[in-house]
Amino acid sequence: MVKIDRYGSNGEGIALCDGKVVFVPYSLQGEEVELEITKDTKHFSVANLKDIAKASSKRIEPVCPWFKKCGGCQIMHASYDEQLVIKHQIVKNNLAKFAGYDGEINKVYPSHNINNYRNHMTFAVSKNGKLGFFIQGKHDVLEIKKCYLADENINKCIDIFNSYFFDNNISGYDYETKQGTVKQVDIKFQNNQLLITVVATQEDLPNLEHLAIRLNLLRLKYGVYVSLNNSANTMIYGKLKHLMGIEYIATSECQISSLVSPFSFLQVNNEVKEQIYQDITKNISGGIVVDAYAGRGVLSALVSKTAHTVYAIEISESSVSDGLNLLSANDIKNVKYICGDVKESLDYIDEKIDCIILDPPRKGVDKIVLENIIQKQPQRIIYLSCSSDTLARDLKFLMYNYSVTMVQPYDMFPNTSNIETLVIMEKK
Ligand SMILES: C[S@@+](CC[C@H](N)C(=O)[O-])C[C@H]1O[C@@H](n2cnc3c(N)ncnc32)[C@H](O)[C@@H]1O
Repeated sequence: MVKIDRYGSNGEGIALCDGKVVFVPYSLQGEEVELEITKDTKHFSVANLKDIAKASSKRIEPVCPWFKKCGGCQIMHASYDEQLVIKHQIVKNNLAKFAGYDGEINKVYPSHNINNYRNHMTFAVSKNGKLGFFIQGKHDVLEIKKCYLADENINKCIDIFNSYFFDNNISGYDYETKQGTVKQVDIKFQNNQLLITVVATQEDLPNLEHLAIRLNLLRLKYGVYVSLNNSANTMIYGKLKHLMGIEYIATSECQISSLVSPFSFLQVNNEVKEQIYQDITKNISGGIVVDAYAGRGVLSALVSKTAHTVYAIEISESSVSDGLNLLSANDIKNVKYICGDVKESLDYIDEKIDCIILDPPRKGVDKIVLENIIQKQPQRIIYLSCSSDTLARDLKFLMYNYSVTMVQPYDMFPNTSNIETLVIMEKK
């Protein structure tokens, strides 16, 4: 019997057994448990929960019947207040371990919606043509009827596509035999509009009227694209063909009219995103601002209200196109888009930069970009990250020249161990 005394970076419990660290997924701090070791290395072990002798009062029954099998949620067995404790510990541990930061970390800003908060889902398709998720590390698909994290309007599409594929003999792609048609169904939902991209090995889908009849029942505006993908990679950046309905979602975020095209980035939790944007905007006080990794430009537009000029750098042509539309729709003149990699694009800016906003993908900011930032010496760096380990790695580098003045985690992704963290830094 061992006691779980803290949490690891994936939200799993950690116990000490004969001085060795044991990672125990799905256990909670304070619990006394019986373990079954599944992996043993020189420095640590991983174990399954065999029995819980003393359960935490924070343990709850997960609402999802596919929890654990699916792997998308790691901490659905914890009450929501405990989830926030776990996330705070993850940020604290990563910043201490990888950046040597031992300063204050604000309480995690909670999400109002704990379920059904996701406005964007990408489903895999089983060989039988049913929507689901890849089982971790495999190409096998766990078929599901709904995802508890997804907006209900996205969930309604699962049945619609399952029956459309079934009626029309459309099978999922088999990665072993390389047979079959559909690889993924990507669905975005915003402002009562659905934007659906079917990733397939062919450019056309048969009998689209069958799909339209079913989608019409939702009484929402919708658009369907197919993205041709014949590569082994499941990424959805194939050639796009518009099949029917709307071509993009037209919406409003923080009172800025905006567009979302199939390949453009959309922050998944609307409510938490708006809070983060407000908190970032509060920290802008005039001057030249660079919004690196700018996406569709909503944040750039908000920041432009107080900044003199905003340079929005973004690599995705689709996001840049949405961003340019946003600027003209909102009559914003002081945001300049640069379509390109931050690595090269920072050098196109020859003005003195006062503040740089970094909101990179999970892998964090390239070392070469960090070096460039240090050379350009902005007074303030605002770093928003969805991965606190790469955030910590980058902070370690920046902290030679910059002091951390605020760390604010946000629960953008309830029930999972993912966390969004905002860090404000000032030049020393
Ligand atoms: C986490 S998203 C943030 C988007 C935006 N800030 C928002 O709030 O919607 C990261 C963005 O960085 C872009 N990106 C990824 N790598 C990049 C790079 N090397 N240079 C420029 N943009 C990049 C992606 O296309 C994506 O739009």
